[in-house]
Amino acid sequence: MSFDRDADQATRLALFEQVRRHTGIVMNERKWAMLEGRLRRRIRALELPGYRDYLQVLEAKPAEVTDFIDLVTTNETSFFRTPRVWDYFGTQFLPAWFAGNPQGTLRLWSAASSSGEEAYSAAMLCEEFRARHPSFRYRILGTDISEAIVRDACNAHFRGRSAEGLKQAHPHLLQKYFTPRDDGFTANGTLRANVSFRQHNLYASPRELGTHDLAFLRNVLIYFDADGQLAVLENVRRALVPQGVLIVGESESLSRFDTGFVFEQPLIYRNGHSNGATLG
Ligand SMILES: C[S@@+](CC[C@H](N)C(=O)[O-])C[C@H]1O[C@@H](n2cnc3c(N)ncnc32)[C@H](O)[C@@H]1O
Repeated sequence: MSFDRDADQATRLALFEQVRRHTGIVMNERKWAMLEGRLRRRIRALELPGYRDYLQVLEAKPAEVTDFIDLVTTNETSFFRTPRVWDYFGTQFLPAWFAGNPQGTLRLWSAASSSGEEAYSAAMLCEEFRARHPSFRYRILGTDISEAIVRDACNAHFRGRSAEGLKQAHPHLLQKYFTPRDDGFTANGTLRANVSFRQHNLYASPRELGTHDLAFLRNVLIYFDADGQLAVLENVRRALVPQGVLIVGESESLSRFDTGFVFEQPLIYRNGHSNGATLG
């Protein structure tokens, strides 16, 4: 079947609206080339003649939304992304938290976890910390809106740029916590034992996710508009204990918002509300 590559303005706007409705991600004409490229293969696979027909499928078949979300999200990530954040986590946050909670279980949330590099980076530093403090316990939850990327994170198999980056920056950690397999490296049981993943939209109530001592919310706010960012920040805050830590991405700042978070140092905030983890 021939495929009409052109989409008129109304169709493009309707597709941007579908992206916003299902993910909160804001797109405009500048993003059309990217969106068009991502949708084209799917539309061809469905043997549809063009974008307008795909819109109709999206409206009529709720199951298509899952694939649509997988397609429109950008999942770029890496191990130990933004090293200074990991320096803070390993040398300041973990020792301070453990000193204040020697009997507790640390709960970390990698919100928008993509393929899991962020969660497994945290797990490696937690394991390194536990080697020095055997009574230290932790749990890491990774969540993402894309079901496909959550499956990847559960598989914990890394190759290409992701594996290469870890190999270059931290060869000893790669050797200690991963096993070479096929064309990449798979995380060992030690690293996976305390890490789990599930699908979750940051716009939805965090009630079912439990409460956390620290949330990584990195490189995802940039995709939302100001109202969306505020809504997501409030959801994340509600899933944090009072004084719980929020870590954002390098190009993200809360300074122009009135949120319940208090600035601590660049990229790092604390839940300033005493009613942090009230998920009722
Ligand atoms: C660029 S990646 C960032 C991954 C990781 N946090 C990092 O900083 O390396 C952004 C992730 O946010 C996810 N995402 C986008 N919109 C979302 C939403 N509404 N709820 C949850 N996750 C979302 C995407 O699927 C993608 O995996």
